[in-house]
Amino acid sequence: MTKQTQQKLVVANWKMHGSLKQNEALLTDFIENLSILNHTQVVVCAPYPYLAQLQSLLQHTNIAWGAQNVAKNEVGAFTGEVSAAMLKDFGASYVIIGHSERATAYCESDENIATKFVQAQKHGITPILCVGETLIEREAGVMGMVVSKQLDTIINTHGATVFAGAVISYEPIWAIGTGLAATPEQAKSMHLFIRNKISNLNADAANHLKILYGGSVNPQNAVQLFVVPNIDGGLIGKCSLNAQVFEAICLAVENSAQ
Ligand code: 13P
Repeated sequence: MTKQTQQKLVVANWKMHGSLKQNEALLTDFIENLSILNHTQVVVCAPYPYLAQLQSLLQHTNIAWGAQNVAKNEVGAFTGEVSAAMLKDFGASYVIIGHSERATAYCESDENIATKFVQAQKHGITPILCVGETLIEREAGVMGMVVSKQLDTIINTHGATVFAGAVISYEPIWAIGTGLAATPEQAKSMHLFIRNKISNLNADAANHLKILYGGSVNPQNAVQLFVVPNIDGGLIGKCSLNAQVFEAICLAVENSAQ
C-alpha cells in the first residue's frame, strides 16, 4: 500500500531553543513567507513557556502550534508536568510524543508513550509519535522489528484505530542532529513498512495517518526526500531555527505535493 494523504505537514521542533525575542523574529518571518502555502500545514512546536507567545502571534495565520511533550495524567500532584488540557488552553493542536531525546535522557517507556498518545487525542490534540532505530540496530538489520515493537505498545493497548488522524514520525536516531539523513531509499522502505503495518490492521486508519520523516533534513535533501511515496512531510530540528532555511524546506515539501 502506498497511500499518500493529500495535505503535507512540516513540523518545526525547536527543542530547548529560543527566547521571546528570537521567537518573535522567527515567527514574524514565517508568517510573512509561509502564507503562500496551499498544500502544506506548518506547525511550530516550542518549549512550554512560549505557548502563549505562539498563540498570540499565530492565531490568525495558517501556521499551527504545539508542544514537545505532555503529561500522561489528567490532573494532580505531578510536579513539573504539563497536562493536555493545559496545552489546549493555549491553543496547541499538536504534541510531539516519545522523541528519542526524551526516551533516552528521561527514561520514557513505550507504555508511558502509549498513554500520552491517547491522552493528547482525548483533548483534541494530534499526537506526533516518534519512532526509529539506533545505528547498531540498523547495522544489525533489525530496524523493522524495532519500529514495529514501538508501534505495538500502542496497538496492543489501544488498537490501530487510534492512528486515524494521527502522525507518526520516522526519526532514525543515527540521523538526528548528525548531518547524516536517511537516504530516500532507506526512508521509502521504512515508511512503506509503517503504512503497511497499520493498513493490515485498519486500512482506514492507515489512509488517514500522516507519516513524517525527521533527522538532519535540510533544503538540499528535502527535495529528494519529500517526493518519496508515503513521506507526508517532515519533522525538522536544527533547520527550523533559521527562517530562510526552514522556509526553503517548507517550499520543497509544498512543491512535492503538487
Ligand atoms: P535535526 O533536524 O536537528 O536532525 O533534528 C531532528 C529531530 O530530532 C526532529 O524532532
